Formats: sequence, structure tokens, C-alpha cells
Amino acid sequence: MLPIFGGFTPSVDFFGHSDPYALVERHGSPLYVYNESILRQRCREMLRLLDHPDFHVSYSSKANANLALLGIIREEGLRADAMSLGEMHILLQAGFTPEEIFFVANNVAEEELGFALEHEILISADSLSLLEAVGRLNPGGPVAIRFNPGVGAGHHQKVITAGAGTKFGIDPMFVPQVKAALRAHRLKLVGINHHIGSLFMEPDPYLAGAQALLKIAKQFDDLAFVDLGGGFGVPYRKLAGQPRLDLVRLGNELSGHIAAFETAYGKRIAVHIETGRYVSAECGVLLGMVHTVKENYGERFAGTDIGFNTLMRPVLYDSHHDIEVYRKGGASAGSEPVTVVGNICETGDVLTTARDLPPLHQGDLLCVLDSGAYGFAMASNYNGRLRPAEVLVRDDGKDVLIRRRDTLESLTANCLPPTGDRARISRPKGP
Ligand SMILES: Cc1ncc(COP(=O)(O)O)c(C=O)c1O
Repeated sequence: MLPIFGGFTPSVDFFGHSDPYALVERHGSPLYVYNESILRQRCREMLRLLDHPDFHVSYSSKANANLALLGIIREEGLRADAMSLGEMHILLQAGFTPEEIFFVANNVAEEELGFALEHEILISADSLSLLEAVGRLNPGGPVAIRFNPGVGAGHHQKVITAGAGTKFGIDPMFVPQVKAALRAHRLKLVGINHHIGSLFMEPDPYLAGAQALLKIAKQFDDLAFVDLGGGFGVPYRKLAGQPRLDLVRLGNELSGHIAAFETAYGKRIAVHIETGRYVSAECGVLLGMVHTVKENYGERFAGTDIGFNTLMRPVLYDSHHDIEVYRKGGASAGSEPVTVVGNICETGDVLTTARDLPPLHQGDLLCVLDSGAYGFAMASNYNGRLRPAEVLVRDDGKDVLIRRRDTLESLTANCLPPTGDRARISRPKGP
């Protein structure tokens, strides 16, 4: 089935042997659909970024931690980084070995550090207090440190993760205190890392950040690696012809900086990057149904089942996602501005405002492009809504269910029944 509007990514090939209507009929709407060949292609592009004998790419599992996708990403040769005990657990389940996991800890509880140490997963400490805690729990062990070299970038203030005003990393002015803590606990500093923020579309901020981190690296002897973080952007405005991030220029210039660093440092060093969005955003779309159309005070609304419980980025970051429209057997002429909203009881539940789309009808299927990263990962049960199923379209065109849709039972599965007097008080009285 071809879209009546759009036609960029999810053509027939994206959905393999099925069409989008068939998929939602089988698995319910809304529905996340991923395409295996696009996922593999993005992994390979990242692996080719740097021509360096000891270059490693970690996938940031926060972007999308579905086990099936993680399995493919690992098969492609990526490692992974985790932000929490839960993500470490998921990555181990997906088959990553402890050596392939990097725990980038931010304000974590000692229980989470304990889990990492028990499994011999390397921890990056991003504050002096966390470094002290690692030292107390694992004196003499290896550790990494996340610095905040002062260079930040990102598509929204909320996702710029370095520079003044951000909570992450250690300010390099505290290098003497870092060295003292390392000495006090006989910790072996094996690497330093940073992350400037999420979604840059020009190479320059990343290169500036890398240079700043390499300058800090020179202050420590015998590092095994530097980890330059992620944030590689993808074009969310494909329908308007937005160009891709120039990975060739980024890689070439980065190679130059690394080579100069290695010469000055007097030894080769492993180079790591962490990337979430670049790997998983474009392989995923979110399908959702138009249930109502109306006009309120001169504004046209299309009411869908794509609430912000399903895809949060537009509400959280004012993010743009291209939208395609599918209609059973129907063509459409013209377009009109329409505000596409979800089914959550909040006025802010808006997917897009006054977007030019063909006049929408009940039963039209919307396809929200580039939803594979920070889509399902941020979904919730707000308003008692079921989180969607996830389907993977394999290289051979066959689709497989890789996560069941939530059920009504799962909504209350962790609640304990009321007991004792409270139960008597809250139980409704019969007639
Ligand atoms: C420490 C760290 N590394 C990597 C990433 C991945 O960022 P992106 O998905 O933009 O590549 C993040 C995202 O928040 C992060 O916090």
C-alpha cells in the first residue's frame, strides 16, 4: 500500500510482505514497526565512522532496548552503554558480555554500583562522590570518569548534557581532587568519557567536544581509552529534503585529532563512541489511527490514538516528526492545515500543530517516521493506556512480533489488593 501523502521511508519495502493496515489489524493500533535492514545499515555506518585500529561503537540502550533489536545490534558488532541497573540487566539478557557493557552512572544508588561490580561491568563515575563510592566498594579496581569539558550541543536545552548549567560529568577544574581520590582508593583510571548532548546535525560541536576531552586526557597517564559520547543526529525533516549529518567529514577530522593526540600522548589509545538515536531512530515508525475529525473555533483537529503516552518527543521537546498518511483504497486531493492530537486528557497532547496534510478522515492510518529512538523507550501507561506492540520486519520481508502489546491485566499486575479495614472501607456498598 502506497501512502496518499509522504512516500519517503515506509514504502512497501519498509513493511516487507505486509501492508500497514494488515499489521495494525493483527497487532492493534498504535503500533511500532521496525525494519531490520535499515537498523543494520545504520550500525554499519557508525562502525565505519573512524579509520582507527582500536575503534569501538557502543549502542546507547536508552534509545530503544527491545531485546530483538539489541540482538541485531550486537550481531553487527556494537557494544552497549547502560544508564541504570535495569539497562545492564536488559543488555545481559540480550547477550552482551560484561566487557561489552559500559555503565555510565549518573547519581546512581550504591545498589546499582554493586550490581555492576558483581558482574565486572566497567563503571564511569560522573561526580567526585560517585568516584569515592566506587573506590570504597572496589578499592584497587578499574574505573572510568565522565568529565564535563564545557562543550555542549543538542536539539533542545533539555538534552544538552555538557557545559555550564548541566548536571553531568566532573568539571575539569577538579582534576587534582580526582587524582587524589584515585590515589586514596588505588583505583586504576582506564578511560575518560563525555557526552555533549543529543542530536547535532553539523560535525563541529562534536569535534570541539572531542578536542576538549582529549586535552583533559593528556593530564592522565596510561589511559586505555577515550569515549567521545554520542548525539549523532538524523534528519527528522526528510520530506522537506533535510540533508544527513556529514559522517565522512566528521570521521576524517576526528581521525586527525586522534592522531595528533596519540603523537603527543606517546601511545595508541582505544577510541569509543556512544550512539543511540543514529542507530535506531530511522529504522522505526509509529502507526496510529485517526478516530475523529472536528473543527474547534476555526482550527481543524484530527483525533488519533497517538497520545504522548506512546510518543513523547513532540510534547517533551517540541520535536518534529514527518507524517505519512495511508487510506484504504483511496486517493486524496489537496491539503489543509490540521492539528493532530492524541487521546490523552491533556490539552498539551499534540503530535503536530497546523501541519499541511490531506484532509483526514476517520479510519486513515498515520505513520510517524523516525520513531525508533526515544519512542517506545519513553512510552507509559498514563491515562490507563496500553503501551503498543512492537513488530520487526525482517530482511526477508516477513514480520515478527517482538513485544506484545500491554494487556488490561498488565496495567494492575504490580498492584497489591487492599487488605484489612481499608478494604472494607473502600469496597462499594451493594444496593
Ligand atoms: C551518556 C550518554 N551517551 C550517549 C547518549 C546517546 O545519545 P544519542 O541517542 O543522541 O546518540 C546519551 C543520551 O542521552 C547519553 O546520555
